[in-house]
Order: sequence, then C-alpha cells, then structure tokens
Amino acid sequence: MTEKSDRSATAGSGRGTAGGPVIEVRDLWKSFGDQEVLRGINLTVKDGETMVVLGPSGCGKSVLLKHVIGLMKPDRGAIVVEGKELTELDELELKELRMRFGMVFQGAALFDSMTVGENVGLPLKEHRGTIGDELADLVETKLRMVGLAGVSHLRPSELSGGMKKRVALARAIALDPDIVLYDEPTTGLDPIMAEQINQLIRMLQRKINATSIVVTHDLHSANFTGDKIALMHEGKIKLVGTMDDLRHSDNEAVRTFIARGYTPPPGSTVDAGPVGLAEFD
Ligand SMILES: Nc1ncnc2c1ncn2[C@@H]1O[C@H](COP(=O)(O)OP(=O)(O)O)[C@@H](O)[C@H]1O
Ligand SMILES: [Mg+2]
Repeated sequence: MTEKSDRSATAGSGRGTAGGPVIEVRDLWKSFGDQEVLRGINLTVKDGETMVVLGPSGCGKSVLLKHVIGLMKPDRGAIVVEGKELTELDELELKELRMRFGMVFQGAALFDSMTVGENVGLPLKEHRGTIGDELADLVETKLRMVGLAGVSHLRPSELSGGMKKRVALARAIALDPDIVLYDEPTTGLDPIMAEQINQLIRMLQRKINATSIVVTHDLHSANFTGDKIALMHEGKIKLVGTMDDLRHSDNEAVRTFIARGYTPPPGSTVDAGPVGLAEFD
C-alpha cells in the first residue's frame, strides 16, 4: 500500500494541514412519506479533507449528498457550507454556491447526444460563458487530468464504463471547484477499472486541493480514497474514523458491515471477510 504510506507521511490527503469546517451537517432529518431515511445525521468535513460516507445500498447516502448540494430540503436540521446555512439561501445564492461544487453523479450521468468535449465544457460554457479555442483548451486540460487526452470528439456511447466515469470526473472539476462530491464512483465497474478510478480520485485530491465527500458501499474504495470514514446505518452516522477505528469498533452495526465485506490487506492479523479485495491493496 504505497499510496497509503505516502499519505501517512503528511497530514490529511498528503496536502499538509486540514483546515476549519467546510461542510457541516447538523441533526439532519428527512422522510419520504412514512419512510424515515435520515434520522439525525451529524457530519463535519474539514478544508482539504476527504470524507467517505460508507453504508449499505438504500441507507440514504445519495439523499444525504443531495442535501449537501442543496437539491433536497431537510425536514429538520441544518447544512452549513463554507459558513452559509443552505436553507437560508434563495435560489440565486444557492445556484452560486453550487458552482463551487463538482459533483460526480451515480452512473456518470453524461449527455449522450453531446460529445465528450461538449459534456466537459458544458459548465464552463453555461456558467462562465467560455467559448471557442479557450473552451477547447480548458476541456482538453481537464481531460488530460483524468488521463483522457484526445477523446473530446467521441460520444459517451463510444466509451467504456471506466472512461465515462473519467469524463464525469473531468466535468466535475471543470469549474475548479472547492468541493467535490462523488456518488458511488466505482459502482458498476470491474475491479481493475474501479481501482483506476480510486487512484484518480486520490491524484485529483492532491492536484486540486478540494474538500471531498466520497459516497460508497465499497469498503476497499472507502479505505483507499478517504482520510476519514463515516459509517452510515439506519439513517444515522454510527462512527467517524479511520478504517482501523472501524475494524476495531465494538459497535454492532459497524462490526456487521465490516464482517460482511472486508478483506484486510496481506499481512494483517485481522480475520479475513468473505470478499477478496486484498490483491488491490
Ligand atoms: N425522491 C425520493 N422520493 C422518495 N423516496 C426516495 C427519494 N429518494 C430516495 N428515496 C428513498 O430513500 C432511501 C435511500 O435512498 P438513497 O439515498 O438513494 O440510498 P443509497 O444509500 O443507496 O444512495 C431509499 O429507500 C429510496 O427509495
Ligand atoms: Mg445512492
């Protein structure tokens, strides 16, 4: 795990100091009909930090992200981003704040009718009015950052699943965001492509210095990409800590989740779980 050792040499994501809180979720509640999805979520993400929100499918991770980016309104509680309470902002202020976010949606969510370049360039064109050669140059720079130089003329349908995720990443960083939110960035990819995306996320963290939330149900991805991991269960955050903290927790929900899906790296003394992911550590 050379990546991990590099990281432990310095604080946070290898970028030095983690600063004050950038995202604060306070006692967030959300129901749909009589289904209580979020039941008092508390979560703080500091400047430059990558927080992984880990939890089983359907536990409310995407709903949480949609609140952080202001696409859903809480029933109760507060979401404070860069010192601003989201529920107090009007639509215009919310739109401005959203421009500081890059979001990688679950399943990439590219526009199939547009080329790769048009997809990546869309936020630049819409929000900054960038056009012509300047737009083409910026698009190419972002594509190069995700290892996809020279594909801007292709259509999403001509790309593999992993390439589509890369394009989604390039689009998310188009406006040089302060905050990047990743919803299940490795879901649906084969293990090798998933690993490439994990590495790309870490590389981007170093390059663009953004504060990030990575939502996943994949323990390996959580361990690889996160500075800290928040385990979500039954609408609450059960524990925030490192993968080691999770492994040694005596919280039953945490133990059940870990036992179901985690194989520790080779040489570890912790008992192996049922899923063989160790070869990627
Ligand atoms: N807009 C919505 N209307 C009604 N129910 C929703 C809506 N969005 C999510 N849900 C429900 O909330 C629960 C959590 O969903 P989600 O956050 O997508 O889970 P996941 O952790 O897999 O991302 C699910 O039961 C889902 O059906
Ligand atoms: Mg989801």
